[in-house]
Amino acid sequence: MTFEDKVIYQIYPKSFYDSNNDGLGDLQGIIAKIPYLKQLNIDMIWFNPFFISPQNDNGYDISDYYHIDPKFGTMADFDELVAKLKSVGIDVMMDMVFNHTSTEHEWFQKALKGDPKYMAYYYIRDAKPDSSLPTNWDSKFGGPAWEAFGNTGKYYLHLYDPTQADLDWHNPAVRKEMAKIVNFWRNKGVKGFRFDVINVIGKDVDLLDAPYGTDSRLMYTDKKIVHQYLQELNESSFGQDPDAVTVGEMSSTSIDNCIEYTLGKNNELSMVFTFHHLKVDYTHGNKWTTMPFDFMSLKNILNDWQLGMTAGHGWNALFWNNHDQPRAINRFGDPVHYREKSAEMLATTIHLLRGTPFIYMGEEIGMSDPQYQHLSDYNDIETKNIYPTLLAKGLSKTEALDIIQAKSRDNSRTPMQWDNSEYAGFSTEKPWLMPMNQSIVNVQNELVHGEIFNYYQQLIKLRKTLPIVSVGDYQPLLMDDTQVFAYLRTLKNQRLIVLNNFYGTTTTITLPAFTGEISTVINNYPTDIKLETTITLAPYQSVAFLID
Ligand code: NOJ
Repeated sequence: MTFEDKVIYQIYPKSFYDSNNDGLGDLQGIIAKIPYLKQLNIDMIWFNPFFISPQNDNGYDISDYYHIDPKFGTMADFDELVAKLKSVGIDVMMDMVFNHTSTEHEWFQKALKGDPKYMAYYYIRDAKPDSSLPTNWDSKFGGPAWEAFGNTGKYYLHLYDPTQADLDWHNPAVRKEMAKIVNFWRNKGVKGFRFDVINVIGKDVDLLDAPYGTDSRLMYTDKKIVHQYLQELNESSFGQDPDAVTVGEMSSTSIDNCIEYTLGKNNELSMVFTFHHLKVDYTHGNKWTTMPFDFMSLKNILNDWQLGMTAGHGWNALFWNNHDQPRAINRFGDPVHYREKSAEMLATTIHLLRGTPFIYMGEEIGMSDPQYQHLSDYNDIETKNIYPTLLAKGLSKTEALDIIQAKSRDNSRTPMQWDNSEYAGFSTEKPWLMPMNQSIVNVQNELVHGEIFNYYQQLIKLRKTLPIVSVGDYQPLLMDDTQVFAYLRTLKNQRLIVLNNFYGTTTTITLPAFTGEISTVINNYPTDIKLETTITLAPYQSVAFLID
């Protein structure tokens, strides 16, 4: 399986489909929906973690990497899922959370009891001579990155929640454990692996304070040694499988590093998730603010990554949505006035770029943020932590809730909307998060009356049938235009021109003259459109022309 012409779908198992009516999605629920997944014609599914976990961070706090959490099902269910997906040509991608374990993991528990073998699995450090914390680093979920290690007087490092203790990858025994886990799942027929925050696994041996006024992320992100660890993991596990597809989640990374992570000859990863393009609606880089997205900066970032990764022969995963992001349609589209057109425009922008597209469940039917009215409607640990912080900064309760409505990770974690019933056909019991607009947006309705799902099918087909989409080069077009993101893909003498109007108003653009045999390969409006030097695009219109 090469990955250039593949499309990967992401399922948040807790929210996909509840087969046993306990309000939580499960593996049998996913099995029940295989015909739907097949209909979309995706090649692989990335599942968010369903290993044993106290679920403080919804499964990103793993206490046992070798078993399925009973909330989601059994190992027999998992085997059935892999086999049934395989029988319809869909492979499985598992989520490997290797930067940290849950503090309930046996290793951490043994460490707490003083077992030196397992203490060496984690970053356990003394306080500074002045009794302050070992370093001045911040946790990404708020507060300091250190927590008391039992009553030993020492501290352990947690870049995320205090219940997620960072593993010390300098220890060869830790690296061996990680390869063993990957190999266990490979033996079960798993072909894909997504590595959670993998570019922060390479801390220094001596952990130092971030210099005054600098961001502590610089102290542990993209350290050179990560490349060595990935090469080693590749060699001892997934690299032995020519069909393996791997994606590393890269936090605050750079193009140069991502080229290195994905360059074929380096034997590290197939592709990377990067997030710069999803920070264009952060005021001064701060997620917990609201502002309209900066279109020019979005364009420039996408363009820089496309050019940079093409030049360096690296490979990007392409995505707008995932379980950590509010729905892109709320951020960059218009879910109220142009739900279908803006959903299709966003999909076109990503799917025709160079890289491997990921579709996050519900995106293909135009699902949007739930806009909950009360803090108690939310579940996410990050959301719960940020609320008091926002109040402490002087924001009113209403202001804080407005920001949470726009930015909470729960925005994308709401149940998949299958029909218009009380719980959206997800469950007969009250779900762990409530669906919101299922009377309008649901699969049943979409498949009969909608156009977004069908449009995604067309985009997926284009990637599979036109090599220019999967392997063509990228070139920018109309970089100064403040409304349209346009680009050119090239392959030998062929060209593909892609035009995307990012706003709800009509716009006219001027293009260079192109000669050759021209065909329209996709257009989200039924009206005919011709490739001429002057083209008028309707609100949120996307169109692509192939020139032979
Ligand atoms: C990234 C995951 O996508 C996110 O959901 C999680 O909270 C952090 N990594 C920590 O594992």
